[in-house]
Amino acid sequence: MTIKITAQQLEMRFKERVLFHIPELSIGPNEAVYLKGANGVGKTTLLKILSGLQKPTTGDINCGQNGWYQRLFQRSAFSDVIYLHQSPYLFDGTVYQNVVYGIRFQSQPQQEKRSQVINALRMVGLETLADEHISVLSGGEKQRVAMARAWILKPSILLMDEPSASLDQESIQRLVVLAQDLLNRGSSLVITSHQTNALTALCSKQWWIKDTTLIESPLLKVVTKSKRDQSYASAEGN
Ligand SMILES: Nc1ncnc2c1ncn2[C@@H]1O[C@H](COP(=O)(O)OP(=O)(O)O)[C@@H](O)[C@H]1O
Ligand SMILES: [Mg+2]
Repeated sequence: MTIKITAQQLEMRFKERVLFHIPELSIGPNEAVYLKGANGVGKTTLLKILSGLQKPTTGDINCGQNGWYQRLFQRSAFSDVIYLHQSPYLFDGTVYQNVVYGIRFQSQPQQEKRSQVINALRMVGLETLADEHISVLSGGEKQRVAMARAWILKPSILLMDEPSASLDQESIQRLVVLAQDLLNRGSSLVITSHQTNALTALCSKQWWIKDTTLIESPLLKVVTKSKRDQSYASAEGN
């Protein structure tokens, strides 16, 4: 639940073009990072590398688990990092089937799994659609299903790629509830987004990919009228 990922000399090149070179990077335990940068700078690529879905051209990534036990289970530790795709892959089935998929091999009774899934769907406001086929859902609703499916697995690190791109304020607020719950449990989050919003307001650190490298800075929370309107500025005033 509280792993840390570190990376050194992380470089991604496509033929001669250097997408980014990041001398050092670390995430976790229990922190939330806002990853920003213009289109095409490599945000998605970085998240895929951190989740183990893509291999960097050079560089080492480790999960910061150095005990023999962790080394033995290094692979499963890495699988505790979930990448939440911008356009989530949901399979041909009901909303319920899509969410229960992640815990299908867990040993608890069927009844208990069902209540976990219904609880997850309730948190994203979709419990009444549990038995609907996934194809009838809107883009925003699908994003919420994908978030419920990720949340139910209680990942150590959740990498959220443009989660709010197709969401209205209410749906963003639904994701905030699950994201905050993961943070309370000791997980870490990385969130990419074009605009700051209630999700990025959870973050206390910023990664900015710019000029083929990554600039890290703390985010200072600026409390405005109410907690809901909370916004923030980075130490550099960005
Ligand atoms: N397989 C690939 N071959 C060549 N170039 C690629 C490949 N994958 C990604 N890129 C390049 O990397 C750039 C960054 O992609 P991406 O990580 O999706 O950026 P972002 O998420 O910041 O918009 C893309 O604009 C593209 O030019
Ligand atoms: Mg992207």
